[in-house]
Amino acid sequence: MRRLLSILLALATALSPVGTPVLSARQPVHAKHGMVVSRETHATDAGVAVLESGGNAIDAAVTVALALGVTHPAAGNIGGGGFMLIRLANGTSTFIDFRERAPASASRNMYIDPATGKATNESVVGYRASGIPGTVRGMELAHSKYGKKPWKELVEPAVKLAAEGFPVSYGYAQSLQGKGTMDRLSKFPESKRIFLRDGKPYEMGEIFKQPDLARTLARIRDNGAKDFYEGETARLFAADMAAHGGDITLDDLRGYKAIERKPVEGSYKGYGVITSPPPSSGGIGILQMMGMLEGTNYEKAGAGSATALHYEAEVMRRYFADRSEYLGDPDFFKVPMTALLNPKYIASRRESIDPAKATPSESLRPGVLAPYESNETTHYSIVDSEGNAVSVTYTLNAFFGSGVTPTGLGFLLNDEMDDFAADPGHPNMFGLLQGESNAIAPHKTPLSSMSPTIITKDGKLYLVVGAPGGPTIINQVFETILNVLDFGMNMQQAVDQPRIHHQWMPDSLSVESTVSPDTIELLKQKGHVVRLTNSIGDIAAIRLDGQWLEGAADGRTEATAKGY
Ligand code: GLY
Repeated sequence: MRRLLSILLALATALSPVGTPVLSARQPVHAKHGMVVSRETHATDAGVAVLESGGNAIDAAVTVALALGVTHPAAGNIGGGGFMLIRLANGTSTFIDFRERAPASASRNMYIDPATGKATNESVVGYRASGIPGTVRGMELAHSKYGKKPWKELVEPAVKLAAEGFPVSYGYAQSLQGKGTMDRLSKFPESKRIFLRDGKPYEMGEIFKQPDLARTLARIRDNGAKDFYEGETARLFAADMAAHGGDITLDDLRGYKAIERKPVEGSYKGYGVITSPPPSSGGIGILQMMGMLEGTNYEKAGAGSATALHYEAEVMRRYFADRSEYLGDPDFFKVPMTALLNPKYIASRRESIDPAKATPSESLRPGVLAPYESNETTHYSIVDSEGNAVSVTYTLNAFFGSGVTPTGLGFLLNDEMDDFAADPGHPNMFGLLQGESNAIAPHKTPLSSMSPTIITKDGKLYLVVGAPGGPTIINQVFETILNVLDFGMNMQQAVDQPRIHHQWMPDSLSVESTVSPDTIELLKQKGHVVRLTNSIGDIAAIRLDGQWLEGAADGRTEATAKGY
C-alpha cells in the first residue's frame, strides 16, 4: 500500500492533476552572446553573471548547479547526481556521468521484506534510499577539464545565496505546503527544522537563509570536492548515516568517481542528434523513437492533431517496452545499443504501428533484437559567446529526495536507489517496469531517464534541450525537438505546445488538458486510454537561430531564460 502511495505521489509530481490550463503565449528570450535557462531565477542570474564576466558555459554550469542546490532544494542539489552533456565550440562533444552509485553493501534484494516477499518503502524515503551523491565530483571533473575561471569564484555565488538568503518565490512556498512534501520532510527533524522552519513553512517573499549549507559550500569552495568525499563534510555525512541505519560509508564516499563517457550520436532528417548514453535510457529512446517516425509522414497531419499524437504515443509505447528489458548500467550489463538502433529493427517496430488503432501494451513485448553486439529532477541549458553548449539534468529523484538532511550539513539526500529495479518485474516509484538489467548491485549506477540532448544543423550548434520529470523526460525532450524540426515552431512555441506521455506500462496515455477535447475524443476512438493531466514536465531549451540565441523557459513552472 505504501509503495502504491509513493507511485501515485511520484506520478503526481511528474504529471500534475487537471485544473487550470497552463499554456502560455510568450516570445522566446533573445540574446546575442550567452544564455542560461534554469528552473530558478537567482540561479539563472548567477549563471549569466559568470558568462558576462568571461566564464565559459562549463563555468556557468558549475555555478548554476551549486546555486540551484540552494534556491531550488526540491531538485537542485549537492546530495544527488546527474548528467552533463557538453558540446564545445570546436564541434567535439562529451558526457559527464555524475549519477549516484549504489554503496558497497548494496544487494539485489536489499529492499525486499523477507516476511512478505514484497519491496518496502526504504528505497524511496529515509537514510537507506540514497545512492552515493555525485554532483560535487561531477562539477569538479567538468571544471578541471573544460572550465576557465577559478573554482572558488564559481562556488562563491552559492555560498552567498545560502548565507545571505533569497526571497522565497510563490511556487517554492506552495511546494513546501503540499501534503506530500510536509509529510516527507517532517519525518526527519533536521529537514523539518531547515526546510519547514519547524512546522511554519516560509511564505512568498520571506528570506530563506541556510547557514549549515553555507558552511558546507564554503568548505567545498575552499577545499574542492575533496571536502565532500574525504574531508569534514564526508566525515559528518558518514557518521550521520551510521547513526541512522544508512548504508553509505566513508569508503563509499572516498571511492566515488564521476565518469566521462562518449555521447550517443545519430541523425534525424539531416539534423545531428547528440544525446545521453547509458546509464541514461533517454538518448537511445530519443533516437529509436525518431527512427520509428521517420518516413511515416505523421507531421503532415499537423502539430497537436490526433494523427500526429497517435504516432508519437505509439513510438513511445514501443520504446518503453524495450527500455524495460534492455537498458541498465553499461559497466554491469551489456546494453545492446547497436541492435536497439539498428535501422532494420526500427523499421520492424514502425511496421507494427496501426495508423488507426492503439496497440494494447499487453500485446506488445520488448522487441526481439539481433544477437547482442561484440544501457524530481531539474534541467538547465547554457550557451556561451564562443559557442560552447552545456545541457545538464541532475536530480534528487523524488521531490525533496529521500527527505533526509544529514545533521549539520544543510543539504537534502537523494532517493535514487528507487531508480533501480528494487523488486525486478514490479513497478518502481514512477510505475516503470524494469528487469534484471537494472537490478541492484554494489557500485552499480541506477538506470536513468535523464536525457540532456543537443541538436546540430549543418554541423553547427542548433538546439540545447532537457527536462526533469522521471520517465516523462525522454518524451518531453523528444516532443520538443519534433516541434521545432517537424512543425517549424520557434523555441518558446515548442516548449509551450501541449505534451503527451506514454511509457508502455501502465497502458494509459497522459495528455495535457490543453489538448482540444475533439482531439482527445479522436485519440479515445483509436483505442487510447486517455488520462488528462494539468502539466507534463519542464523543458529548458535554447535554439541558435542565425545570429540570435533563442531561450525558452517553461511556463509550466517558475523557470527563467536570461541572456546578454
Ligand atoms: N531520477 C529520475 C531519473 O533519473 O530518471
